[in-house]
Amino acid sequence: MNEKTAFITGTSTGIGAATAELLCSKGWKVYGTVRKISDAKDLTSKYNDRFEAVVYDVRDVESLPALTEKIMLDLGDKGLDLLVNNAGIAVAGPLEEISNDDFEMQLDVNVKAVFRITNAFIPALIKNGHSNIINIGSISGLFTSPFLGAYSISKFAVESMSDTYRRELLPFGVDVFCLEPGPIITPIWKKTANAFDKFAHSRYAPFLPKIADLSKKSVKKAKPVSEVIAVIDQIIQQKANKPRYVIAANKLFYNFFRHLLPDRFIDRQIKKKIYS
Ligand SMILES: NC(=O)c1ccc[n+]([C@@H]2O[C@H](COP(=O)([O-])OP(=O)(O)OC[C@H]3O[C@@H](n4cnc5c(N)ncnc54)[C@H](OP(=O)(O)O)[C@@H]3O)[C@@H](O)[C@H]2O)c1
Repeated sequence: MNEKTAFITGTSTGIGAATAELLCSKGWKVYGTVRKISDAKDLTSKYNDRFEAVVYDVRDVESLPALTEKIMLDLGDKGLDLLVNNAGIAVAGPLEEISNDDFEMQLDVNVKAVFRITNAFIPALIKNGHSNIINIGSISGLFTSPFLGAYSISKFAVESMSDTYRRELLPFGVDVFCLEPGPIITPIWKKTANAFDKFAHSRYAPFLPKIADLSKKSVKKAKPVSEVIAVIDQIIQQKANKPRYVIAANKLFYNFFRHLLPDRFIDRQIKKKIYS
């Protein structure tokens, strides 16, 4: 049987871990990046020879060629069936207050790494003759909320990168999908839980409690990871071929109304909700 193969970034937790689980359960061979040796051991023992842990920080530019070469050798003539650009972080806070280092890290992990890793694997994806790239974007790549600007900027870039690769790879049998989840129950929320504390003495301090409150409300409405996995499952079964999928409660807003509503109208709603 011709075994299907995937490379997924960020498989330690959340959407990446669940994607690895889906693919391993379907008999795929998964190369998944982790940063901790303990995660590598856990995943390898959980999925046995279905999963190969690749200990790699996506910011590491230097080791990428050797890593890719090793996997390409392993794949041989088969090539790669699927690349999932999932690893991501969310840097929250007023844009004025975000440090250069944090802004750089946000773009490096969420944008530049997607560019580097995709380019590194394109030859393997083309070799296959019929393969997919799934980029994990966000509704933050469709609509900019204040105080989540750095993250939003990175996810808008993922949208554009997805369109670029999809259109440039059209002649080569590589299709590109961008998933746009709203809040999903994963550890990412805990990682940003106290993100606003360091801005307590900034000019934005009076608005932070409201922002924290809105954020808590959206976490309460967060959807299970299974909703994202269901879309990935459809894509790998070739039952879904839209270039982008919103996975959120208010799909109509993100797919439709955000284009119709004037920006000034949305600004007024934000003013009412946060600044008054
Ligand atoms: N959860 C949501 O509400 C939501 C909504 C929309 C979009 N998304 C997107 O979904 C993707 C996955 O996030 P998640 O919600 O599943 O969060 P998560 O559980 O925090 O997973 C993030 C993954 O990315 C990895 N990662 C972070 N920085 C990395 C780096 N420098 N190098 C390598 N791996 C790195 C993490 O590895 P470590 O464990 O080693 O840190 C982890 O495996 C992200 O792109 C995120 O923006 C999430």
